[in-house]
Amino acid sequence: MRQARIPYAGVLYSSEVSVTTATVSPQPAIAGAAERHAVAGQPLAAVTGAEIQAPLISGGHVRYANLDYGASAPALSVVSAYLNEILPYYASVHRGAGYASQISTSVYENARTIVRDFVGGRPDDSVIFTRNTTDSLNLLAGCLPQTGGRPDGDVLYLDIEHHANLLPWQGVPHRSIVAADTITGTLDAVRAELEQGGVSLLAVTGASNVTGEILPIRALAALVHRYGARIVVDAAQLAPHRRINIAADGVDYLAFSGHKLYAPFGAGVLVGRPDWLDRGVPHLAGGGAVKEARLDGVSWATGPARHEGGSPNVLGAATLARATQVIAQLDQGRWHAHESAIRSFLVEGLQTIDGVTVHQIFKDSNPETDTIGVVNFSVEGYDAGLVAAYLSAEHGVGLRDGRFCAHPLLKRLGLPSGSLRASFGVGSRLEDAERLLAGIRALRSNGLGWDYVVDAGRWVPANDFRTYPHWAPNTPGTAGAAPCTDD
Ligand SMILES: Cc1ncc(COP(=O)(O)O)c(C=O)c1O
Repeated sequence: MRQARIPYAGVLYSSEVSVTTATVSPQPAIAGAAERHAVAGQPLAAVTGAEIQAPLISGGHVRYANLDYGASAPALSVVSAYLNEILPYYASVHRGAGYASQISTSVYENARTIVRDFVGGRPDDSVIFTRNTTDSLNLLAGCLPQTGGRPDGDVLYLDIEHHANLLPWQGVPHRSIVAADTITGTLDAVRAELEQGGVSLLAVTGASNVTGEILPIRALAALVHRYGARIVVDAAQLAPHRRINIAADGVDYLAFSGHKLYAPFGAGVLVGRPDWLDRGVPHLAGGGAVKEARLDGVSWATGPARHEGGSPNVLGAATLARATQVIAQLDQGRWHAHESAIRSFLVEGLQTIDGVTVHQIFKDSNPETDTIGVVNFSVEGYDAGLVAAYLSAEHGVGLRDGRFCAHPLLKRLGLPSGSLRASFGVGSRLEDAERLLAGIRALRSNGLGWDYVVDAGRWVPANDFRTYPHWAPNTPGTAGAAPCTDD
């Protein structure tokens, strides 16, 4: 059968045509290789699925190298064991007098305290369980203060945000700022906007989901407070990588997701000052959100219940809380050393490969201290989606390609058609990064080892006869376009 060959940007991608002739430069010895292996040769914590085998397009299997933690991290083994432990006691919360119901209620309500402690919350901070970070930020958007029916001010956000921290604010009065190419310049730009007056809230990411660079949260909080505004931090990426103390840092609201924090069971959270939240529009009108409902009116509850109408995700909240306990117990020095060793190994390795560019937003961010386990890069001459498909099919490496739900940033970085993102965490090991580097080196020196076609907007191997496990529908190509890749 003739294989389809899909031209992309005038280049033929095929196993028989190497699009690059560049030779790979010799690898310099990576300084401190022994130390790196000592701190990052093994996972820092056990996660489920760490040894799953990925089928290769050429036949055989390899251990799946999961470099897509930034999208959804695998469950901590402790967390999945805990889920099995509490599952028999799972029952409806709040309303049941039965034994299992009381246990479930206690687990659910206690999860709030655990999460509040994890983020260093103030004693009176509300802890509201949601579906995810997106849900949390949408919830807050419905709680912005008003006087006489008019919003008290604008929401300010940077152009580097994930859509979850950009689109909810477009439905309320807002102003956007183009981040400078330095952190210092970005702080100046935020200050300049605050000086104009009329800002009620700064919505900012704790760490970029595109490049992993960390924003100076404490400095931003101090700045906005000087102008009488508040700050919400989108900690979807930060929380799985850094200790957070919202009271010490002056953060008013914090949002993050369980599925990025090793608890992929469908819960997210919003933590923060109760006053706006207690007066805001109930996020999910329904059972449990009211003090009293009438046929033609309602008295809404205050506290988390106001926004948690309907039956809550008890197991999601419980596992999210359990994951925070495990993460809180990590030795901070070892945690950072582990992640930083993998990151520097990967960045240094990529930088030695001809035609590979590593991307960052800020010139003055320190990769050792100010960047989480995320590396963004592109390979000259290859569409990012094709490289991702190749790494998966020929090397068993999983990473993310596309525009990462951050279209304005990708456009500004000169990557309108996307790039590649490797992301890792406590279950990762140096070998995952080695596998990625080996794949990119092989691509640069030998080209693709298979033919690839575009199917439903995604690059996929042509004639892919690999099968899924027996319990998964074996319908290759149904993955469709990755979210946020289309225009
Ligand atoms: C920085 C950032 N914010 C928000 C989100 C949205 O998270 P969720 O999909 O869990 O709502 C993501 C997800 O990738 C993210 O990386």
